[in-house]
Formats: sequence, structure tokens, C-alpha cells
Amino acid sequence: MRLQLLLVIPIILLVAVACASPRPARVVNKTVDETKVAEIGESAAMTLIQGLVGRLNAAMNEGTVAAFEFCAREAQSLTATIQQEIGSDLQVKRTSFQYRNPANAPDEYETAALQYFQDALAERGTLPTSYIQMVSANEYRYYKPLVMAAMCLNCHGDPASFEPALHQQLQATYPEDKAVGYKEGDFRGVVRISIPASLVR
Ligand code: HEC
Repeated sequence: MRLQLLLVIPIILLVAVACASPRPARVVNKTVDETKVAEIGESAAMTLIQGLVGRLNAAMNEGTVAAFEFCAREAQSLTATIQQEIGSDLQVKRTSFQYRNPANAPDEYETAALQYFQDALAERGTLPTSYIQMVSANEYRYYKPLVMAAMCLNCHGDPASFEPALHQQLQATYPEDKAVGYKEGDFRGVVRISIPASLVR
């Protein structure tokens, strides 16, 4: 009986841990509720991703060059609009080591988060689903990794495969572009959600 209990308890614990979704990547501070950080962050990140990808897919119906112009013109303001829908308490951003728009360059904390995903991928061969970071006593951040899908390669893949008109537009609009050369399944960057600590205590 005793032995059975000893075996059953770890199994229950394992199941409980496996079912706690979305699971924070690491414990940062016991004074906030990390499950809340993960819930708020995941929901905001999904709203942003679905909003942007939905508009991108619609724009792609007009052709890659038109969609590129749409992204170059609208991605920043669309992100700000979706942020308003999510709630003015939260700040959203997309960032990457290989950014196209310098406005999306990572700050010091985002650099650490990007490095976390990159190292974990190199060590384990898979991307963690999220990362939680304490920036200050007032700010927590939730990060969700972005992976390249086949359609993304139209504008982020091998430049030699781009339509000539797209190639020209890309060089004219982003002369310092770092966001090319990706393959399907590559780690592209992150969506970052800043959450005030007052929302997650
Ligand atoms: C039609 C061309 C096009 C397609 C397709 C496209 N992108 Fe982009 N992407 C852009 C442009 C242009 C920017 C820079 C606009 C901005 O964010 O201000 C950009 C910026 C980004 C950024 C912000 C960081 C940076 O580099 O500035 C991320 C992240 C990103 N793209 C991911 C993706 C993903 C993931 C997909 C596929 C789901 C995708 N993109 C498909 C054109 C495209």
C-alpha cells in the first residue's frame, strides 16, 4: 500500500505539471502570480499574431509586392491599433535579432529573451513555448516565439527567389534589412507583451 502510494503521487504530480498550460518557462519571482502573467501574455500575443497574420493573408491576395507595401506602411500602426484593442495597460512589440525595421530592434531585455530561445533551441532542438521575465518591480514581460511558415518566405526567404519588383522595393525601403535568408521552421523572433505588476499580483 505504501509503495503504491509512493508510485502514484509522482504520477499525479507529473500529470498536474503537464496539464498546467500555458506553462511559464521559468520561475522569476514569487510575489507575482506567474500563471496570470502567462494567461494575460498568451492571450494578448495570440490577438496580435492573429490580427497581423489575418491582415497579411488578405493583403497577399493582391500579390506579394502589394502585400509588402502594406506591411511596410501599416505594420507599425496596425500593431498600435491591436494594442488598443488588447488594452492600454499592456504594451506589445515584435522583435528579432535579424530585424527589418529598425523600429523593431531589441532592447537589452528583449535581447536576453531572444538569446534564451536561441540557446534553448540549440541545446534541446525545440523551442520553448514562452518565456517570462521580470524587468522591474513594476514590469513583467511575456514572450512568445515566432516560427517561419512557408508563406513568410515570400518576403523573408532567399532574396534570389524574390520577384524582382519585390527585391527592388525591399532594398529601397530597408537598405539595412537583416530579415532575409530564413527557411521554413526557423526561429524568427518574438512577440513581447509588457504587463504591469499590479495586474498580476
Ligand atoms: C508581403 C511581405 C511579408 C510577408 C509575407 C511577411 N512579412 Fe514579416 N515583415 C515584412 C515587412 C515589410 C516588415 C517590416 C514592417 C514593420 O514591422 O514595420 C516585416 C516585419 C516582420 C517582423 C518584425 C521584426 C522586423 O524584422 O522588423 C516579424 C517578427 C515578421 N515580419 C515576421 C513574419 C512572419 C512570422 C511571417 C509569416 C507569417 C511574415 N513576417 C511574413 C514583410 C513581410
